[in-house]
Amino acid sequence: MNPITDNHVVPLFAVPLCKTKIDPITSEEMTYLTTGIPYKERLHSIAYNSVDNYILDDPKVADVKKKVMDQVNEFLLGYLDVDPKHEFYMTTSWMNRYQKNHYAQMHYHSNSLISGVLYLTDCEDTADIVIHKDKSNTNIFTDTINIDHKDFFDTDTKRSYLYHQREMRLSPKPFDLILFPSMTNHSVDLNAQVDKTRYTLAFNTWVRGTIGDSTSTLVLK
Ligand SMILES: [Fe+2]
Repeated sequence: MNPITDNHVVPLFAVPLCKTKIDPITSEEMTYLTTGIPYKERLHSIAYNSVDNYILDDPKVADVKKKVMDQVNEFLLGYLDVDPKHEFYMTTSWMNRYQKNHYAQMHYHSNSLISGVLYLTDCEDTADIVIHKDKSNTNIFTDTINIDHKDFFDTDTKRSYLYHQREMRLSPKPFDLILFPSMTNHSVDLNAQVDKTRYTLAFNTWVRGTIGDSTSTLVLK
């Protein structure tokens, strides 16, 4: 019998979910983003969001925006091998504040290519983000088939869980940055902590320049 490992199986047509990090931001930047801006309640999540939908366009946090976009470009151009002629840029960016019993129901981000979340507090202390497989994405068996699996997944040595899990829970640390295709469904667990507030910065992106050629040319300004 020849053991089958990750070397023998490819995650064919898989969704690229990236967890990277940025260098720590300054205490001034942290104070500005968490307590220096106005927040308001929003309908799609039981939490607070910044009033400003372009929060990283403020010169006070220009360095934070640069650190984030450097990683977005590394993900797209460096890892995913997108042609470097394409220029990706941040469209909207906003802060999220989750206090006791706050959460975000499952959603995706409209009018965006790649979305991301920068973590400013430790999710171990508050609530995880959950990534959900789209029901239309049949990667092994349809969602109507429930084959039983082992209770324990050895996530350190093999990635077989990628094929049979319908959701993945992540517990990011401060300055971790999660990047994913914007149509990816995600939610935020309930923050049951009385005294710990969960702060995250979310953003969307688009591309400008010339895409494609001949009759398929598209120029985005
Ligand atoms: Fe989101």
